[in-house]
Amino acid sequence: MGMLDGKAAVVTGGAQGIGLAIARRLGAEGAALVIADVAEGRASEAAKTVAVAGGKAIGIACDVTSPEAVEAVVARCREEFGSIDVMVNNAGITRDATMRKMSVEDFDAVVAVHLKGTWLGTKAASLAMREQEDGGSIVNISSISGKVGNIGQTNYSAAKAGIVGLTKAAAKEVAHAGVRVNAIQPGLIKTAMTEAMPPEIFAQREEEVPMGRAGDPDEIATTVLFLASDLASYITGTVVEVAGGRHI
Ligand SMILES: NC(=O)c1ccc[n+]([C@@H]2O[C@H](COP(=O)([O-])OP(=O)(O)OC[C@H]3O[C@@H](n4cnc5c(N)ncnc54)[C@H](O)[C@@H]3O)[C@@H](O)[C@H]2O)c1
Repeated sequence: MGMLDGKAAVVTGGAQGIGLAIARRLGAEGAALVIADVAEGRASEAAKTVAVAGGKAIGIACDVTSPEAVEAVVARCREEFGSIDVMVNNAGITRDATMRKMSVEDFDAVVAVHLKGTWLGTKAASLAMREQEDGGSIVNISSISGKVGNIGQTNYSAAKAGIVGLTKAAAKEVAHAGVRVNAIQPGLIKTAMTEAMPPEIFAQREEEVPMGRAGDPDEIATTVLFLASDLASYITGTVVEVAGGRHI
């Protein structure tokens, strides 16, 4: 028996990194998966790896900044698997620069993918879940950067802090319908996003972690699984820090 047997989930930005780890973990617990990513080819490949492990999964193209694309992903999940029970808003980009050098385009791009994308996903999924009248769980991937702010990330920190406010407001709006909305703030996690950092900055950030190491994508995935499952049946509007004690 899997913890999510009979459930269907959408993971945005699920083609690699943390999103792929989330898709694999939810799939291993019995959820049917829609992996939605701007990189269509990688989304299909990712779906194959979930399917090889015994799960049901499809990969589809979706730019989370497009309302039509996000609505289409939710609709496809219901068509393909009969429902949408879990929505993970995970897609993300970085365009780091100090404020002095950051362009307005780079500010807008980051806010659009993280904040608008998460709002669109939360809106579309909660509407569908309310229609289904069987509750649901929405998990939004924020960042510890949204709690403390990072130099060179005024765009990203603002968007990730915005996801916290959005999560709490949405949780209050849809709690009566049994739809739970929570956020996770990962700390330093080993993925392509952090591999793009200069090695000395990565090492410096790793030193700030009380547990003495960067996290693994699966350590975010297990937290998503908990929030998505009935183990978290009375938890909504919360922010879970998964950061090895960094910035507590
Ligand atoms: N890696 C970390 O240390 C860390 C820490 C805190 C938070 N996060 C957050 O976790 C999430 C995943 O990060 P990651 O490290 O796995 O990054 P990643 O770059 O490895 O993966 C991000 C995925 O999102 C997809 N994506 C980008 N723009 C998109 C769009 N407009 N529509 C749909 N998909 C899009 C990419 O194609 C990619 O597959 C992000 O929201 C990120 O901000 C990561």
